[in-house]
Amino acid sequence: MKKTAYLKWLLVGVLAFIILAFAIVYGWSALLIHKTYDVPLTSLTIPCDTGAIREGARLIRIEHCRSCHGENFEGKFQPVPYRAHMVAPNITALVATYSNGELERLIRHGVKKNGESVFAMPSQMYCHLNDKSVASIIAYLRTLKPIPSSPDLPVSSRFYPLRRWELITGTYLSTAARIDHLAPRPELQSDTTQLAFGKYLVMTACTSCHGGNLQGQGHAPNMRIAGAYSNAQFIHFLKTGEGALGRKELTTMSAIAKNHLSYLHTNEINAIYAFLKSLSASGQLAEK
Ligand code: HEC
Ligand code: HEC
Repeated sequence: MKKTAYLKWLLVGVLAFIILAFAIVYGWSALLIHKTYDVPLTSLTIPCDTGAIREGARLIRIEHCRSCHGENFEGKFQPVPYRAHMVAPNITALVATYSNGELERLIRHGVKKNGESVFAMPSQMYCHLNDKSVASIIAYLRTLKPIPSSPDLPVSSRFYPLRRWELITGTYLSTAARIDHLAPRPELQSDTTQLAFGKYLVMTACTSCHGGNLQGQGHAPNMRIAGAYSNAQFIHFLKTGEGALGRKELTTMSAIAKNHLSYLHTNEINAIYAFLKSLSASGQLAEK
């Protein structure tokens, strides 16, 4: 065979291999993206009094739903460099298509109406919310009036090859795959101690970024860092976003504190502080 013919076949072979590899990665990851989860629906009693709706509105702040779905839930586009472009949809009309049971399953289990998992939405944190809080959140969602989507909002999320590879290798998981769906339901916090209340609040308001074991992930540090704050500094920090450890303006954390965590009551911030301080004093971290 002539050298040029040989090179031509080699090129064709390499190209065919690349195309096949991409087809396998896309096909396999698509199976994982569209995998359905068989999580039964539970029936919660959804309150409709104004007190519960107001509490739901406050909890939705603290759970920072708006940081992804937009200030009026009109939907928001979030690029994840090199990996994906995620679309948190306009939910103002969507929630009406969900039953209360389906909303509970979406929020606490990360499972959509069609049985597939959400991606990026932190239900691995919301699964720690107690029945009363979820019921108030749903009560508030029921008051949303449909509004047009944010202009130019793409229809759906897209996953690039790197993220698809991470899905196949298990280094990135769908939200539903991160949750123990059979775990006992969280208990009501009203009769618990301040430390247990603080832990409940940390598990339900901080772990989306600081990680389920509080050890930090991405740019979010190990939560024991809170022990370096005084109680008064910590209250000021969560109410205003102004850090006290040298960096006054923190990027993500300042925005989250100012716009969302500032809705925590002072007694709740005190409980969070007491719990985090106890971790840093004992050198221990919360069990997973
Ligand atoms: C970190 C970002 C983020 C946060 C915080 C977040 N979401 Fe989402 N949410 C998303 C994304 C992304 C999707 C689209 C997920 C998908 O289809 O994979 C989504 C989907 C949804 C959907 C539509 C499900 C469907 O059928 O398509 C609803 C409703 C929803 N979220 C409600 C909420 C509520 C309520 C909260 C707060 C308790 C919340 N979200 C917090 C990112 C987020
Ligand atoms: C949306 C993500 C997110 C959530 C939710 C979040 N954090 Fe953070 N946090 C961060 C990031 C990221 C940083 C690192 C600083 C930065 O880049 O903003 C940080 C930094 C911190 C710091 C260090 C501040 C300093 O002075 O260096 C403390 C303390 C902290 N967070 C406490 C909390 C507590 C308590 C909660 C829950 C009530 C919480 N965070 C919820 C993302 C988050």
